[in-house]
Amino acid sequence: MILDNYLKLKVIKMDFWLKDCKIVPENIEVSIKIENGKIISLKKIAPRRAEIINMKGSVILPGLIDSHVHLRDPGLTYKEDFRSGTRAAAIGGFTTIIDMPNTIPPTNTPHAFLEKLKIAGKKSLIDFGFHAGLGKLADINKINKFKPASFKIYMDLIDTNFLDEIFSVLSKMSDIKPLISLHCEDKDIVTNNTNKEREKKKIKPEFYANARPPLAETTAVSNALSLAQKYGLTIHICHVSVKESVELINNAKKSNIKVTSEITPHHLLLNLNYLKKCGNFAKTNPPLRDNENKIELSYLSNIDIIGTDHAPHTITEKEKNMWDAPPGIPNLETTLPLLLTEINRHNINFADLKRLICENPSKIFHLENKGFIKEGMDADIVMVDMKKEGIINPDDFKSKAKFSPFKGFKVRGMPIMTMVRGEVVMEEGDVFKNKGKFVYS
Ligand code: DOR
Ligand code: ZN
Repeated sequence: MILDNYLKLKVIKMDFWLKDCKIVPENIEVSIKIENGKIISLKKIAPRRAEIINMKGSVILPGLIDSHVHLRDPGLTYKEDFRSGTRAAAIGGFTTIIDMPNTIPPTNTPHAFLEKLKIAGKKSLIDFGFHAGLGKLADINKINKFKPASFKIYMDLIDTNFLDEIFSVLSKMSDIKPLISLHCEDKDIVTNNTNKEREKKKIKPEFYANARPPLAETTAVSNALSLAQKYGLTIHICHVSVKESVELINNAKKSNIKVTSEITPHHLLLNLNYLKKCGNFAKTNPPLRDNENKIELSYLSNIDIIGTDHAPHTITEKEKNMWDAPPGIPNLETTLPLLLTEINRHNINFADLKRLICENPSKIFHLENKGFIKEGMDADIVMVDMKKEGIINPDDFKSKAKFSPFKGFKVRGMPIMTMVRGEVVMEEGDVFKNKGKFVYS
């Protein structure tokens, strides 16, 4: 047990200090006063008589924010639910998640949004927000009042004409203009290529990547950027997978188009060979890319956030044939260990990590009290052990999805304690009860 005096604190629920925390990348030690779930002050030394949790010089990070998860609740809870999904999140050092709308029913009506609020309010162990889907255009204004993090559009599922209409409606909304998150793959290119690939007699994993080629992504990214410019709206491009998309987005930024970009751990750390090697366990949309197109770690400085796109499915579903198995990879428990490992290898640094998965998600999705360790913020804190080693083993996942293309990866650096608004929700792999809260209330 790391926090030898934590349980006592939990019983009496006093305000307390986290003593001797190492702040990175500055490498300074501070003690943090926490009162009613908020960070009250940061001092060099904790007062002698205070209630203390001794962090013994461990590295701490702001609680991680995952703005792209699929917790499948309601409707698909055999794959995941708010309890299992947020357990996995707490293990992975996440203190806030933003859930995607492709549940059953989809989160695209005021009623569905309120139902999801109730469910997450009961089951979520960490703080949460929701992206809304698009249903009837008349519902958009009503849903916007409930404060979705964004409206999510799957460009692989809708026609370009309809897209223009949606942007037009969103741009005319009376109050705050909503953010639009986009899955960028062009519907026509994906449909045509998929039909062509499916005609082949054999099935090879790489055919799936051919069915959704880089051009499908870059065409959709270009269209999305044009619409953002035409209607003056802010867009967030989810899971970029090819270098050219990053270049398109960064050029658009130079022309003052309001756009941000996201990458997943799998698009960053895996290539097409993993689709060949792991089959459907590495099947995801957009697909993994060959080295020529893939985004290298050195490109991270051009990207705004890391989102896990935690997309759980059952093994039985993944064992279907390549065309029928659902796409998606569960990542909540692998992302931070994988990134800490890259820090230990000097491929990325702590400043990047904090920017990509704490600070920028907070700024982009307007999470006022999250993402930073400073006075006035929620006491969302992760303690990491940079020397702790392990091997990724999906059998140990708290997520219901017990598979991963990262299976067998050796990691060095792991989260060992997760605190949400001053409450310890995870300590050395044990998860405790906690009541997560809607971040936009
Ligand atoms: O791989 C994916 N899985 N990409 C998506 O866009 C959806 C997701 C899912 O919900 O399973
Ligand atoms: Zn997704």
